[in-house]
Amino acid sequence: MKNDRPAEIDRPQLRGDPITAKRYVSREYFKYELNNMWRKTWHIAGLAYQAPESGDYLVAEVGPESVIVVRRADGSFSGYFNVCPHRGARVSEGPYGYAEQFTCPYHGWQFDLDGRVVNVPGPEDFERGNPCEKLGLQAVVVEVLFGMVWFNMDSGCESLTQYLGENITNEIGSYRIEEMVRVLDMTASTDCNWKVLSDNFNEAYHVQVVHPELMPYIETQGDFSQIDLLPNGHNRGWFASYQPSTLHEGPVQEPLPSLLGEWDIPVPEEPTMKKLRQLRIDVQKKKREQGSARGFNHYAHLKDYQLTDYIIYNIFPNSVITVGPDGVQLLRPRPHPSDPARCLFDHWWMVPRIDGRTHTPSPAGGPPLPVEDAEHQAFAYGDKSLGITADQDLSIGAIQQQGFGSIGFKEFYLSDTEIRLQNFHERLNDYLNGTA
Ligand code: FES
Ligand SMILES: [Fe+2]
Repeated sequence: MKNDRPAEIDRPQLRGDPITAKRYVSREYFKYELNNMWRKTWHIAGLAYQAPESGDYLVAEVGPESVIVVRRADGSFSGYFNVCPHRGARVSEGPYGYAEQFTCPYHGWQFDLDGRVVNVPGPEDFERGNPCEKLGLQAVVVEVLFGMVWFNMDSGCESLTQYLGENITNEIGSYRIEEMVRVLDMTASTDCNWKVLSDNFNEAYHVQVVHPELMPYIETQGDFSQIDLLPNGHNRGWFASYQPSTLHEGPVQEPLPSLLGEWDIPVPEEPTMKKLRQLRIDVQKKKREQGSARGFNHYAHLKDYQLTDYIIYNIFPNSVITVGPDGVQLLRPRPHPSDPARCLFDHWWMVPRIDGRTHTPSPAGGPPLPVEDAEHQAFAYGDKSLGITADQDLSIGAIQQQGFGSIGFKEFYLSDTEIRLQNFHERLNDYLNGTA
């Protein structure tokens, strides 16, 4: 197998389902999505290291659903719907905490870490019998992978690794996220349907217009990029870096010289495209030779292309994991609890700990970040920066959502480079039709 890019995967035949505005604006569609898709797919609740001790828990939200995942005495995690079986109150507001027993804030029912009701005020007063040992929090399926706690609300779901498939499991696994620390943890609310953002992460066609600053050092199309559709609606986009995009015009530009300079590789005096593309290979060799001596121990687990390039894994429906040589991002649009025209956007940045390094470059601009577990920040889009690239992506959200409100818009007219988007929507249709 070639080691300079991910192995290509045969492309499935797509149906060409039309993609119209209804799925972005309709409340009825929003409900279908919740019932038929969100409640049947795998979601990330948080990082396992956030809940290190027995009784430490995290609360995760997907639309109107809220789930508690809790660390058990044996180190494993269990998960429950965050809803009291007495009269439906939320048991914990989250976003995290510690509990020997969960206590519902309304009438004080208590639940052990198995979710069972173990104590209620006035247990003899229930005509249908004492709720203790009889009722409990309803369980969800929980697994830990990539240092993340995942859950699925469907008790009959396939295992997480079956769901993700071999490519995603092994390739993301090689980055050893479980050894990383999350140095950025933000959630912004914004005015578009969650799919407006997931569509954006499913294509690189917009990069030259929306993210021109990436052109000097990341490939976006052509021979040094590759798009693969993976089973179950997932996909992978590979984009070579440490070389200019095919679409980049003019002289070599920052940050490329600085990136190369970190590995003592000068920009050639006559930088032809051929010579520039060789630099990426030179960097891979240098990183292989000098990486561990310079503290980059994680390079030992990566293939050559992973030492320089960016790979975006769009995990159906909304967990977008972008891996680079020195860190991993989660870019995740989540549905609003009730409004199809709004969503929440999570942005995480996780990096390996490198001896002697107290700070790490921020993803796509901004000052370097301390290499320590970040406090969660929640705000409305526009009040604060999510990072330059993420801000740019969210900037298109409202204008596209506004367009979807018009009868002047009929349906998407997609280029071949947007095939991941078509594949995503067809998979979504499969869930909605009950054929997934
Ligand atoms: S709703 Fe939870 S104890 Fe009453
Ligand atoms: Fe983008």
